[in-house]
Amino acid sequence: MAKAKRQYVCQNCGAVSYRWQGQCADCGEWNTLVEEAAETVFSAKHDLSKGGRTLALETLDEQSAMPERMLCGIAEFDRALGGGFVAGSATLIGGDPGIGKSTLLLQAAGRIAKAGKSVVYISGEEAAAQVRLRAQRLGLGDAPVALASATSVRDILATLEGHGGGRGADFVVIDSIQTMHSDLIDSAPGTVSQVRASAQELIRYAKDSGAAIVLVGHVTKDGTIAGPRVLEHMVDTVLAFEGERSHQYRILRAVKNRFGGTDEIGVFAMGEEGLGEVANPSSLFLTDRSRDVPGSVVFPALEGTRPVLVEVQALTVRLASGATPRRAVVGWDSGRLAMVLAVLEARCGLQMGAAEVYLNIAGGYRLTDPAADLAVAAALISAFSERPVPADAIVFGELSLSGEVRPVAHDALRLREAAKLGFSSGWGPKGMKGVKGIGVTGFGRLGELVDLMLGRA
Ligand code: TYD
Ligand code: MG
Repeated sequence: MAKAKRQYVCQNCGAVSYRWQGQCADCGEWNTLVEEAAETVFSAKHDLSKGGRTLALETLDEQSAMPERMLCGIAEFDRALGGGFVAGSATLIGGDPGIGKSTLLLQAAGRIAKAGKSVVYISGEEAAAQVRLRAQRLGLGDAPVALASATSVRDILATLEGHGGGRGADFVVIDSIQTMHSDLIDSAPGTVSQVRASAQELIRYAKDSGAAIVLVGHVTKDGTIAGPRVLEHMVDTVLAFEGERSHQYRILRAVKNRFGGTDEIGVFAMGEEGLGEVANPSSLFLTDRSRDVPGSVVFPALEGTRPVLVEVQALTVRLASGATPRRAVVGWDSGRLAMVLAVLEARCGLQMGAAEVYLNIAGGYRLTDPAADLAVAAALISAFSERPVPADAIVFGELSLSGEVRPVAHDALRLREAAKLGFSSGWGPKGMKGVKGIGVTGFGRLGELVDLMLGRA
């Protein structure tokens, strides 16, 4: 028999390489290649052109029933999913350890069970007693969730199939997929081969039985645990649970969704009684806002169709010439910051090149909305000139390298949210229309904003 070929699998992205390398050629992560047994050895007898059965092909105009949805009753969770869990689907929830994935899913499991569905929660990380204690602390002690601490996929599948007198389960949580192992594969739990093989079996169970299955996946920065990225293409929906452990709020974001959009988010706050829903996120992010301080600007970010007001904070420190200035960013893209700084310097004549620049999005929020450019620019100008932006103003707009302020999507939605929270002026791209309760100032070029803020207009 031919000797099995060695193969090395990147624990971050799942790419396979036939020799060990320090850096994965696919995703660029370092020290993530680990030797794993080859999953399948193909030979001539695996000739796929023989022995197949003919498929019954269908047409596009047939009526298919909409997949059945299962609301978990936590509105922020259902919203991120695009309207609840879909029967027969697989959902992956990824996030840093300790961010609250188990808490959120236990709360969802409890609600769904109380609504009369058959719910199974499998923990591979905690003992059943631990999960039970947590459930009791969350006020879910009486929810009819069937609980087990297990890691063998074979045992789990046998249990699920026989559950409820053979009726099976409607909703299954696997916490976490990295602790599961399939005895078909030699590799250790947590390796790419194991995680993939275990997930494959569990997902197949969901498709066959019509249960909605949720796989919890830890994300680690150093790539020592197989990342959820290797599973993203296998599941129907991928949710990312984000936030800083030092802050109480959490955001649940759909990254991929076969049954809905990926632009809605759910906002939660971690408290004594688990994760609470935050129906009005803007008020959460602005509670500790520093008013009339140079460098602080309120930006109306848009998450899907939902505006969220966040505070952008900038600090600049002029250095004695010669020293290399530091640039540090929390919550925004550092490349984007460099671009805004360059535009301020080249198009508006602000000599920021020699200054240290710190940028922070308050509350640990991570901004991805391109309309933040103008808010960041305003915060930088304000910090640099030590002139505060009026406390009742919000700022938004995209910047081009030429220093032009570009229009952005949904300006009216952003302005309305600001008006609702008591803001009375909106600084943004030229041509936007005002909404009730808020006056607008439009800028065609960044230089006009600089002139206004420095009193040069
Ligand atoms: P957990 O759900 O275990 O995180 P994950 O499954 O993502 O690893 O929760 C992590 C943290 O949440 C833990 O440090 C304790 C905290 N927590 C609360 O603050 N309040 C609560 O009611 C619960 C259950 C947890
Ligand atoms: Mg957990």
